[in-house]
Amino acid sequence: MRTRSAVRTPGPADGAALLSWYDRHRRALPWRVVEGRADPYRVWLSEIMLQQTTVAAVIPYFERFTRRWPTVVDLAGAEDGDVMAAWAGLGYYARARNLLACARAVAARGAFPTTREGLRALPGVGDYTSAAIAAIAFGETAVVVDGNVERVVARLLALPVPPKSARREVEASVAAMLTERAGDFAQAMMDLGATICTPRNPVCALCPIAEPCAARTEGEPTRYPVKAEKKPRKVWQGVAFVPVRSDGTILTRRRPERGLLGGMSEAWGSPWGDAPADPFAHAPFGAPWRPAGGVTHVFTHATLTLDVFVAEVGEGAATPTGGTWQAPAAAGLPTLMKKVVERALGALG
Ligand code: ADE
Repeated sequence: MRTRSAVRTPGPADGAALLSWYDRHRRALPWRVVEGRADPYRVWLSEIMLQQTTVAAVIPYFERFTRRWPTVVDLAGAEDGDVMAAWAGLGYYARARNLLACARAVAARGAFPTTREGLRALPGVGDYTSAAIAAIAFGETAVVVDGNVERVVARLLALPVPPKSARREVEASVAAMLTERAGDFAQAMMDLGATICTPRNPVCALCPIAEPCAARTEGEPTRYPVKAEKKPRKVWQGVAFVPVRSDGTILTRRRPERGLLGGMSEAWGSPWGDAPADPFAHAPFGAPWRPAGGVTHVFTHATLTLDVFVAEVGEGAATPTGGTWQAPAAAGLPTLMKKVVERALGALG
């Protein structure tokens, strides 16, 4: 086992250097304000959207949401279906359901709670999100650790284990640097991780806290963070059926509230898992089904391949229980199902 390089431990002077770097190099993001306190609604909304989604992907969604629902009270009054449709494409639909539940809870109590502990009690707001909102919107001296911050600290300390299994050490190290401007500090750590201390190509020459960084001293910063051993993804299979009426509408149904893509629209088909023994047992009705090829989608814990079947049907086609005929663009389809429908329509030519 290697021993850790002897460099000084990070402290307040490094926090100050980081803040001064942030003042010059912060990313201009639509939920940030340069002067004064950020709007808790915008901070909360951005943090929920940024859970597991990149900044670049989130920006257009954030702008559409805040234009359409400028305050938490507006969002609380929205129709569930409108919010789910506006969320489509961001993934992890449980977050959209929690988003609405949270907006309604906040509207009912009149305002966002102003402490980390109070925020933590809201639907969909966990340890990370409560700390981030408390720091950014309310200036609470909260230690905020997301994936970027874990990487920065894992390198600073040349942490010999995955950062998630050294949670306390990571937090203590962040806390040692944090003495003022908690919200800016949190976002400075995130920006450093996103722009300088990147996963593959860290630019140590531009890093404001390179001096105490043990990984840089060792000479190979990308050795960190050390990875946990990965469980292989499960492989799921299934079939999807897309009947297309002559008016261009397709048959969709709503997925159960709980579970993957909960509450979202989908094409008819089999459950996901082992390949179905008789694919056509899962069709909505008998029709001249034609194979349209396969669509593969990677979820966190599984890779799913759906064999797609398409058929042109008349205006009088049956509507099975739970089904709706909708124009594909109006159906609020999640990314996987958009791929399914594109594949089906492509096969029709
Ligand atoms: N990732 C999560 N929250 C963020 C924020 N406020 N700024 C930049 N990246 C983030």
